[in-house]
Amino acid sequence: MTDNAKLIVDGKERSFGIVQGTKGERAIDLAGLREGGGLLTLDEGLGNTASCLSRITYINGEKGVLLYRGYPIEELAGKSSFVETAYLLIHGELPTRSELSVFSNRLNDSSLIHEDMRHFFVAFPKYAHPMGILATMVASLSTFYPVPDHLDPEAEEQFMANLISQVRTIAAFSYKKSIGEPTVYPSIKLRYVENFLNMMFSSPVKDYRQDPDIVRAVELFLILHADHEQNCSTSTVRLVGSSMANIYSVISAGISALWGPRHGGANQEVIQMLEHILATGTDPKTFIDRAKSRNARERLMGFGHRVYKSFDPRARILKQAYHQLLKKLKTADPLFEIAMQIEELALKDAYFIERNLYPNVDFYSGLILKAVGIPADMFTVLFAIGRVPGWLAHWREMVHAKEFRIARPRQIYIGPSERHYEPINSRGLKKCP
Ligand SMILES: CC(C)(COP(=O)(O)OP(=O)(O)OC[C@H]1O[C@@H](n2cnc3c(N)ncnc32)[C@H](O)[C@@H]1OP(=O)(O)O)[C@@H](O)C(=O)NCCC(=O)NCCS
Repeated sequence: MTDNAKLIVDGKERSFGIVQGTKGERAIDLAGLREGGGLLTLDEGLGNTASCLSRITYINGEKGVLLYRGYPIEELAGKSSFVETAYLLIHGELPTRSELSVFSNRLNDSSLIHEDMRHFFVAFPKYAHPMGILATMVASLSTFYPVPDHLDPEAEEQFMANLISQVRTIAAFSYKKSIGEPTVYPSIKLRYVENFLNMMFSSPVKDYRQDPDIVRAVELFLILHADHEQNCSTSTVRLVGSSMANIYSVISAGISALWGPRHGGANQEVIQMLEHILATGTDPKTFIDRAKSRNARERLMGFGHRVYKSFDPRARILKQAYHQLLKKLKTADPLFEIAMQIEELALKDAYFIERNLYPNVDFYSGLILKAVGIPADMFTVLFAIGRVPGWLAHWREMVHAKEFRIARPRQIYIGPSERHYEPINSRGLKKCP
């Protein structure tokens, strides 16, 4: 605490501490408000609430800045690997060569799921959404790998490695299930992303040829999605984790929260929007005009963000990477042309300028996944694989904090006041004046 804020509460002056973050963000600590004055704070959607102190990720939405443990996302995207970034998020520092090798080997050694779990895949309906499968399978890992009440540091490392590694195996198995092909096991010889692509795209009759540009594109996608502070799924992880639920149930809850179209599902919607524009031959300008109408169901998907009020730095990185990928693959995508036209028109349009609506990460992430051959209903699954290290970092930060209480928000009750039970025969009878 560096300062105090004086508030007049019910006519009485009260003083509350002001908490200041590393980058100058300030918050009034209102934890004691109810004790003295009987008042709660009401902030629907939590848009004005800092729910915790965290050392993991910093976002400046006005300036378009994103730092993981202090490192700019641009540097990590250009120089780091997903596994190294995962280590950084969870442990707080970049690993030494030997730390990275231990971490990486542990992930490789933990990549198999219990063989009996393969029966589960048989039982899911053919067209089961892979996110539904992922959430279910991750929750069921707790029955195969029971989590003790107290995790010593070694056990904690192992359970985190299981999750980072097994989530990728389950994701690939669920894709194979959806296309009716046999599952492909992970291999100790392959690195994290290559292993995933091999499980997705090789089959007993055909090997998958790894293309370094594709591997790098997927790696980049995962790094950019690895954490984004207290979004809906990460807050879910902290909330569920605060009950001391086992780590698998906690991550499964995060996956379920991510599945929603307002959160992890938007990248798929961008592709559908671009495909619709292409298929119907709609003029992008007309589409933008429709998106501006308050009644339009078609918002401009991939534009706008609750936190970023300037260019989402991840969108900038992905746009450039996508452009380079198309060049290297010597291919063109008509959807990219449409996306660029839309971006150019929207960025000059007064409606979008006045509301600070810029492209967000989802505007280009679906395009990049499409280019590497990932089917649209796996987009959110890829997001989940990328986000697991971030969720684990937040879970770990919370359970190791000095003060760690179960999360239990309050409410303002606006239902009926106390009333009395009426026998069924007399219900609905009008009372005579
Ligand atoms: C991300 C999003 C939900 C942020 O929502 P928010 O912070 O609550 O912002 P609001 O919904 O209050 O929008 C503020 C204003 O901009 C408009 N707006 C926001 N995003 C818009 C979009 N993509 N297209 C058209 N108008 C948009 C709203 O209609 C509102 O206009 P008004 O002030 O005239 O009422 C929102 O921008 C959106 O729906 N974007 C499209 C979906 C998307 O890409 N999601 C991925 C996010 S990473």
